[in-house]
Amino acid sequence: MDKILVIGAAGQLGSELTRALVDQFGGDQVIATDLRDSASSLFPYCRFEVLDVMNKESLGTLVKKERVTQIYHLAAVLSATGEKNPQFAWTLNMESLLHVLELAKECGLDKIYWPSSIAVFGPSTPKVNTPQFCEKDPNTVYGISKLAGEGWCNYYFEKYGVDVRSLRYPGLIGYKSLPGGGTTDYAVDIYHKAIANQPFTCFLSEDTYLPMMYMPDAIKATLDLMNAPKEAVKIRSSYNLAGMSFSPKEIFESIKKEVPSFQIGFQVDFRQSIADSWPNSIDDSRARADWGWQPSYDLDSMSRDILKHLPTFFPLQS
Ligand code: SER
Repeated sequence: MDKILVIGAAGQLGSELTRALVDQFGGDQVIATDLRDSASSLFPYCRFEVLDVMNKESLGTLVKKERVTQIYHLAAVLSATGEKNPQFAWTLNMESLLHVLELAKECGLDKIYWPSSIAVFGPSTPKVNTPQFCEKDPNTVYGISKLAGEGWCNYYFEKYGVDVRSLRYPGLIGYKSLPGGGTTDYAVDIYHKAIANQPFTCFLSEDTYLPMMYMPDAIKATLDLMNAPKEAVKIRSSYNLAGMSFSPKEIFESIKKEVPSFQIGFQVDFRQSIADSWPNSIDDSRARADWGWQPSYDLDSMSRDILKHLPTFFPLQS
């Protein structure tokens, strides 16, 4: 019987992925975990445990006691937050992954999921249709930790047969939770301003193109990869994954079709140089060929869906 442990379940990705895992495996088979006890209220539909992934012993105890077979390890410090405390970001992102991989080896777990990111790319990477295999010189501690993590995933697969699978997510955009310190997160915040009828001040310049993905596509990609037969998963570092690419100006124009009075201004900060080092668009042909990846949403269909649903998740204060 599959038993799923989600680490960092209360985050932007975790809160939606945990729900999808419960739909697939059932609420008794999924254990959501987070550092904070208060996060338990987010998971009325499955089990919840407080867990500090930096504490290898308590992670091991939980995995053994609950006979966990799969771990989704989503806890990480993202790109912009990571630059404020690089040592902490490195320690958390790296040591937690090594704890999980080591445990998977020791306990013979069935499968591990660990997200990577477009942040593994850097200034020397080809910017347009960035290939799966190419130069990578990340210039954020987040990107450095993700690139090193990809190497560790591949190592544990090759040396110990750990079935670890990974995706290089573009910027993820969802309406069910607030983002947590990423460079691409302007594309989440902008919708909150639009429904509040307030102008939006963007920290990236109007023509900064970045690869992005609507959350339902990201969830589908994750489950498709994890449900694919083992032999189909041929890349064990991490798969390139693409949904759409747009600039702040283009997302603004897309929102304006639904909210004609919406206004935008620009106040560029340190996140611009992070964005400038990342690709404009991604070649995900390996994901399409190996396990049949195909995205469903484009910018306008995403904007319509978010503007329709966001007010029910974040009602406006009167
Ligand atoms: N969304 C992430 C960030 O901006 C990239 O993976 O940090």
